[in-house]
Amino acid sequence: MAETDTAQVSTVPAAAAHGADATSAVSVGYHAMLDVIAGSEPAVARAIADELANQRRQLKLIASENYASPAVLMAMGTWLSDKYAEGTVGHRFYAGCEVVDQVEALAARHATELFGADHAYVQPHSGIDANLVAYWAILARRVERPFLDSRGAKNVDALDPAAWEQLRRDFGVQRMMGMSLDAGGHLTHGFRANISGKMFDQASYGTDPDTGLLDYDAIAAQARAFKPLILVAGYSAYPRNPNFRLLREIADEVGATFMVDMAHFAGLVAGGVLTGDLNPVPHAEIVTSTTHKSLRGPRGGLVLCTPDYAPYVDRGCPLVLGGPLPHVIAAKAVALAEARQPTFAGYAARIVANARALADGLLRRGTHLVTGGTDNHLVLADVTASFGLTGRQAEAALLEAGVVTNRNSVPRDPNGAWYTSGIRLGTPALTTLGLGTSELDEVADIVTTALKVTTPQAGSKAKHMIDPGVAADCRARCADLLARYPLYPQIQL
Ligand SMILES: Cc1ncc(COP(=O)(O)O)c(C=O)c1O
Repeated sequence: MAETDTAQVSTVPAAAAHGADATSAVSVGYHAMLDVIAGSEPAVARAIADELANQRRQLKLIASENYASPAVLMAMGTWLSDKYAEGTVGHRFYAGCEVVDQVEALAARHATELFGADHAYVQPHSGIDANLVAYWAILARRVERPFLDSRGAKNVDALDPAAWEQLRRDFGVQRMMGMSLDAGGHLTHGFRANISGKMFDQASYGTDPDTGLLDYDAIAAQARAFKPLILVAGYSAYPRNPNFRLLREIADEVGATFMVDMAHFAGLVAGGVLTGDLNPVPHAEIVTSTTHKSLRGPRGGLVLCTPDYAPYVDRGCPLVLGGPLPHVIAAKAVALAEARQPTFAGYAARIVANARALADGLLRRGTHLVTGGTDNHLVLADVTASFGLTGRQAEAALLEAGVVTNRNSVPRDPNGAWYTSGIRLGTPALTTLGLGTSELDEVADIVTTALKVTTPQAGSKAKHMIDPGVAADCRARCADLLARYPLYPQIQL
């Protein structure tokens, strides 16, 4: 049994956990809440209950998901949502923001102290928003401010039409360099379908074709040739830990602002698993994150930065964001307080130990893994090389077997970004439930057992067939694990 973790959603002993507790405060609270919701729209109350039932039925291996604590979830369901608070703490465009000021300042203080950052901005509604705020903060500081100074203008409204047109053109020719999508980067790092790819002249760095690892010499050579204004690091599907000191050196050499998107691994930074060269905070000028993945908070984002960038980042609203979501900021404060508990370090360490056990178990059973294993919270299995399936077929087959995952490109993916050749598996959620390394080895067995009896349907990259008996057996094994490590055992609906 995992060590006690105040934020963990499944801390009850396995035996007691079989029966959810109808009398717990959390259970009573959710019953009352659903009754109230049902009074206005019963279908929504039903959907909320159905989603819990679904999540309790599936073994969650989605690397970007987690289970937030009831305290985090409950903090979101309040009248803090009703308050408009555009602006920043103590500097709002609306009256009556004293309480929101307190909540936002608290969340920011937790974030700066947890991550050892100079400044935190906790308003971004999501990871995409956090990156957009960061990009525009960099453009404002490095393009707009010098332009205004050169014209003796205090702000953009002081520019004449010709100067304004020139500045708008200057924004449009800036360069950024980020990790390519198929190497594990995120679409906000310059993918053309995202605004980052449309607003920047963009170049992508990949990984070494033989090892699947970042090649810092190659990145440096590319950066010297391309000369980006912004060098972005961070990933969604890279199973290793980038060296942020080396990347900062590259950025400094070419005059780029170094930005890291730690959306996926913020929990590992918070928990002290990633330190020194592997911790982005001391090395990057701007760090963005989501709060809902390994950090185990509410759905949302945040930005950390050096003092130089703070005044620009703080203008995220109204520059990019609408009014802040005070109820979600409150939940961020709760989650960040939980992540500051000493037990969170144990949680973060177990995420990585579990990912390693999962990777070892998959490798032993003949699955090909990108980079040959993992050093962080995720594993990228090449299901085309291992089982002759597309990622889409494997994802669907695993769902039938009781395991929820998501398909993902592998480097230089022959099946493209829709069908893909990979499956991404992560351990933050199962670690929250309390599963340990021996259970993750069993999960590896369930995954490989299911995929070995799955065949592609002729001529289709989407359709598959899985042996129904084996799928049922896998589902039973998942159900057994989930009965031993139940989700929200305090809640009986
Ligand atoms: C590295 C990275 N950045 C940003 C995001 C975007 O986060 P959100 O979905 O909250 O906008 C993700 C989400 O998958 C991500 O993996």
